[in-house]
Parts: sequence; C-alpha cells; structure tokens
Amino acid sequence: MSKVRVRFAGREVEFVDRETALRQLDELAERGTFPVHVVYGPEGCGKTVLLMQARAVLEDRGYHVVYVDPLAREADHVLQYTPSIRDVVMRVLASIPEPYSRIVDVAIGIAREAVRRLRRPDVAVLMDDVFQAVGVDKAEMYVKALLNLIEHPPGSYGKIVVIVTSSEGVTRARIGRHDWATFRILWNMPRDGFTQLYDLLPSPKPSLDEAWRWTGGNPRALERLYGAGWDVEGAIDDIAKLRNLKVWAVSGEERDVLLEVLEDPDTMFRRAHEEAVRKMRDQLIEKNLIIEIWDRDRRSWMDVPPPERDVELGIGRYYAWQTPLHREAVRRALGTVRG
Ligand SMILES: Nc1ncnc2c1ncn2[C@@H]1O[C@H](COP(=O)(O)OP(=O)(O)OP(=O)(O)O)[C@@H](O)[C@H]1O
Ligand SMILES: [Mg+2]
Repeated sequence: MSKVRVRFAGREVEFVDRETALRQLDELAERGTFPVHVVYGPEGCGKTVLLMQARAVLEDRGYHVVYVDPLAREADHVLQYTPSIRDVVMRVLASIPEPYSRIVDVAIGIAREAVRRLRRPDVAVLMDDVFQAVGVDKAEMYVKALLNLIEHPPGSYGKIVVIVTSSEGVTRARIGRHDWATFRILWNMPRDGFTQLYDLLPSPKPSLDEAWRWTGGNPRALERLYGAGWDVEGAIDDIAKLRNLKVWAVSGEERDVLLEVLEDPDTMFRRAHEEAVRKMRDQLIEKNLIIEIWDRDRRSWMDVPPPERDVELGIGRYYAWQTPLHREAVRRALGTVRG
C-alpha cells in the first residue's frame, strides 16, 4: 500500500502506524460506505493525515477521489482530485459562480457529475473538517446531501465512499440523532505509533514515558511541545487561552462537579441525572476538552480504541479528556475562576 508523506514537526515523514484504520479503510473501499462515515476525534489526533492516506488507499483501488479541505492554508489544497476526473471537475467549477466559496457544493457536484458521465465509476468524496468551515448548523444539510448522492445517484455507479472528518464537539449532538451518518472515533495514537513519532524527534527530549503522560499519544501535542522546546507550562497556557478558560465563570456547584470530573470523567455518566452535571458535560464537549465515547463497540472506532480506563491519561469508559494537557488546563483554571 502506498503511504503518503506528511509534515510532522517541521519535516516530511511517512504516514505512521494506524494499521487497524488502514485495514478498515480497505474494507470500506471494498464495499462502499453506507451511510455517510463521519470520523470524529480529539483535535490534532491525526484525522487530516488519515484522510490523506485514505485518498491514497482509494486511488490504489481505482476510485475517482474528490478531496476537499476548506480550511487549507494553500489554495491548491482546498480542492484535490484524481486526474482521471479533471474534465468533470473543470465543468463543475465553470458552472458554479465563485466555486471556492461553496466548496462543499462543488465537491458534491463533482461526485454527481462523475457518476453521471463515467461508466459505473467507483467514486469517493472525502471532506476534511467541513463542519468547522460551513458551520455546524449546516452540517445536517450537507450530510443529508451526501447521503442523497449515495441513495439517489444520477446514474449507475460501482461503489461510493463518503468520509467526512470533524473535530467539532457538537457534531454528534447535531448529526447523531439522524441515521444519515455512521460515527467513528479516531483516538490519539496508540503507544506504538506514538513511539515511532517520538523517535523521529531529535534529542534533547523528555523520556518517552513523560511525553506520553502529557500528550496521551496526541501527535499534534507532541509536535507542539517539541516546537516550543518542551515547554509544558506554555502548552497548558495555550489551551487555556484558546478555550477561554481564563475567563470561565463557574458556580460553586459546577466547580464541585469539575473537581470530580478531573479525577474521573465517567462521573458525568454516573451523575447524568443531575442537571448541573449535564450542563457541565455539554460545556466540556462544546469547548473541545472532553470527548464523549457513546459506545465501546469495536465498530465505533477508526483504528484502535483507548483502554476503557486509564486514570493517568483521564480516559474513562464513557468520557475521556482529549489529552492530559487539556485536563491540566482545566485544573489550573479552577484555581483562578470566579465562583
Ligand atoms: N499517522 C501519522 N503519521 C505521521 N504523522 C502524523 C500521523 N498522524 C498525525 N500526524 C501528525 O500530527 C499532526 C496532527 O495531525 P492532523 O493535522 O492530521 O490532526 P487532525 O486530527 O486533523 O487535527 P485537527 O483536529 O486540528 O484538524 C500533523 O503534524 C500530522 O502530520
Ligand atoms: Mg485536521
């Protein structure tokens, strides 16, 4: 299988690990996706690079792939496609005014046009972080449009694969209540894969154990710590600033809930009948600090799931801190928040 090359810590490296995810992608390529697949997970866990690798897997298998990354920094990364559908892409781009401001419509249009014009093609639509780009309020609409493409194609096709990634905490609340999409969590790297990334970084560096304890296997967190000269305090502070934790006003009751959640995120499951707990859970999810693990079923995961309980990393059966750094940012915020 061809491995894509990705940027990690200022260098170009080969896509690492994620063997289980690659096998799952192979299976999806074999049968097509139904319904739409939404891959969701902690920020920086590796969704974007997995989607890039998915493109390679699918193209290896003869798929015509249209890939959009609306938030890409470089313009020519916003829309990418297999050269075999260049004519289709040009036609669609020409038919939509200001296509780059409606890139999700463009991608769906390209897939439809490919199904219409090619002979029983295998088509894949891969969308990176579209909900963040179009706003979660539109997420439902787009997922429905993607499902329509699968269910009511404008011509006959071989297989269709639709994979959308999201790092928005509220994704599941918005889309999960419909049966338009199947959710899969991509968790941070397992220990082996993380070790391979750690080994790529030059010394001096903290021990592998220490890097693991802070990042919980999150590759972006590792990359950031390296880039900042292993300044853990700075990394915690960055999270606090990004999530507005420094001005987070919590009541005395909420503070008590948070203190418990710091020790054990599954508190939110056990005490879900309490309104204050539910409200805090919603905030922690919306602020992208905690991930709700709604199902421990093997099929709910892309790649390997984290253990059902890892007190050190803040992982429970039902809820998990995105990384220990996130948990620490909340812990410190509690010391200064107004009660
Ligand atoms: N399997 C992997 N092999 C090599 N590098 C990886 C792998 N997974 C992640 N990385 C690196 O870790 C960093 C974060 O990955 P990526 O951008 O894919 O995360 P993400 O989940 O898309 O983040 P966000 O939630 O911000 O969109 C990148 O520098 C990426 O190159
Ligand atoms: Mg991403």
